[in-house]
Amino acid sequence: MAHAPLPVIQRRRFGETLRRDAWWVSSVPVVVILTAFIAYATWAAFQNAHYTFGPYLSPFYSPELLGDSPHAWFGPKPVWWPGWLPFSPALLILPIPASFRFSCYYYRGSYYKAFWQDPPACAVGEPRKTYLGERFLPLSLQNFHRYGLLASLIVWFVLVWDVWRAFWFTAPGVTQATFGIGVGSLILLLNVILLGGYLFGCHSFRHVLGGYRDVLSGSTTRTIAYDCSSCLNRAHMKWAWASLLWVAFADLYIRLCSLGIWTDVRIV
Ligand code: FES
Repeated sequence: MAHAPLPVIQRRRFGETLRRDAWWVSSVPVVVILTAFIAYATWAAFQNAHYTFGPYLSPFYSPELLGDSPHAWFGPKPVWWPGWLPFSPALLILPIPASFRFSCYYYRGSYYKAFWQDPPACAVGEPRKTYLGERFLPLSLQNFHRYGLLASLIVWFVLVWDVWRAFWFTAPGVTQATFGIGVGSLILLLNVILLGGYLFGCHSFRHVLGGYRDVLSGSTTRTIAYDCSSCLNRAHMKWAWASLLWVAFADLYIRLCSLGIWTDVRIV
């Protein structure tokens, strides 16, 4: 058999490429937005204050398992809580959505490129010479994404309940809450819509709905729910960014209203 001689392929140095387009541009917003979000969310989670306003509860703090607000499920911080350990209701719950986003297939692709430069972009030299994949610690933990999905679904249903409660206002001196619509109610409503679009378009959720068959076309397991999830999945990147930005804005809105800097306008 004849063999064609192939040129020896030399490994590119870090950043070396023949590409002439601005291949690095798509990573810039990823670095800027994710850095800003992580900084803000960390700061907000440690505040343990100004996370409620009227019937509104910040989504960073929900479900509030322990805390001082009327939204707390099991009362205030327990007396046995070690004094050296920072306490905030958000610190008890944020690991669920944080680990879920961190292990999301879409986010992995974007922050591996943007932060770890692994690879910086298609056909651009990488800083590392080995590739171990996600079979070893710590990256093998990314495989827990499917369990993060289950926990996040529970949190999402709690957020839906929070939205319902956000439409019931109690006037000063009155014990009976009445239905009303404030700007904050609509902000929290849009928050669960965007988070729902992100959650229900998750790759793992599609697998739950129909991925146990090798071939789905023509299969009776191909349900409307599967098709809806696939439809959301096609715009997974957009849902991911929109829900990320909006959940931070929802916390900021409630925080600024609680501080008296912004006024929550009642529409109804
Ligand atoms: Fe993005 Fe599951 S793949 S949330």
